[in-house]
Amino acid sequence: MIKKISVDDLKPGMEVVQLNADVWQYLPYLYTKPGPIENEAQIERIRREGFLHAFVNLEADSPVSDEERLEKLILAQDHAPRRKPKKSFDKVIDQARKAYSQALDQTKRIITDVKMGRQVDYQASAEALEGVIESAIQNADTIVCLSKLSKYDSYTYSHSINVAAIAVVFGEFLGMPRKDLEVLGVAGMMHDLGKTAIPNRIINKRGRLTPNEFDQIKKHPILGLKILEKSPGIPVEVMQAVAEHHEKYNGSGYPHGLRKQDTCVFGRILSLADVYDALTSDRSYKQAILPNKALAIMYGMRDQDFDAREVQLFIKCLGIFPAGSLVKLSSGNFGVVFESNPQQPLLPKIKVILDEDLSPIPARLVDLAVPNNGSDLRILECADPGQYKINLKPYFHSKVDNSPFNF
Ligand SMILES: [Fe+2]
Repeated sequence: MIKKISVDDLKPGMEVVQLNADVWQYLPYLYTKPGPIENEAQIERIRREGFLHAFVNLEADSPVSDEERLEKLILAQDHAPRRKPKKSFDKVIDQARKAYSQALDQTKRIITDVKMGRQVDYQASAEALEGVIESAIQNADTIVCLSKLSKYDSYTYSHSINVAAIAVVFGEFLGMPRKDLEVLGVAGMMHDLGKTAIPNRIINKRGRLTPNEFDQIKKHPILGLKILEKSPGIPVEVMQAVAEHHEKYNGSGYPHGLRKQDTCVFGRILSLADVYDALTSDRSYKQAILPNKALAIMYGMRDQDFDAREVQLFIKCLGIFPAGSLVKLSSGNFGVVFESNPQQPLLPKIKVILDEDLSPIPARLVDLAVPNNGSDLRILECADPGQYKINLKPYFHSKVDNSPFNF
């Protein structure tokens, strides 16, 4: 089980988790060199170099997988599972894609406006998000999928719209009314506007930030708030969410070091969506962390970065294998998750697309929760589409053969 711990709690023999992520703006003092801790001298060295935390695997040799632990966690949650989609994935996906690209265009417009010194248009942003909210209500898996599979030229734009989308999906799962979903969406779109006032060389730095650089990064929530204060008609909840999206449960966040009870729920939801998207995004210089691993890492941040119950609900909302994940099946075939299964999180619906040699086959729908010709078909592991050089996007619009599938 992955857990974020203080460097003071490191012990020889502990296994530091591989974390090929761009986490410096979230966890600037994180020790990330994977492998076992050899001895006390190494711990002393890590401490001297200024690291404060590390992710360790506390039960590296346990027969219980992270996925099985997450399943237990999800099923133990008393919150109702996500509602059944009102419409099927195939009926909603085209409309969701259009809505997503419309919201992305507006995100680009806002960021350009701010760079040019113009005011932010709240009304236009809220209108541009209506389609995303509607799609999340009709079938949230379409939006979760698009947030993972849509590739855009600029990380800043795609990250902003993805945070908006994931926040809306989680808000919908929590049963928030539509006007709150609008707050979440617009706040997600605008959460990092303050970064436009920080030098690009710091924002785009690949690697550990110096204390001085991190001090500059820490200003961006307040810089964002100032930008919004100069624009008319921005709801106070949006401003507060933007200002608080880097605060943490235990008060170790920035800019004010507020504890959970002093923060707003919108800011806390943005924080979950922000970290999830940062961990699972491909950048030109690093591969994404697979969604199921990212959720296990986030669970390891409970009681520190996140409220334990809130991060558990977030995992329950997305499922262990969120829509859009590429998975390897026990038959050797590969498939893409397109519908999560809140009652049986390890058994989502899959579109099987490749045989064991990675050759495309006619797409077939398989519901893992329904016995398939007596075979005990299950997911072996999440797979990285980048590693296999697979572009998943076309498969979400491909015709599907509904005949029974022989494995
Ligand atoms: Fe941020």
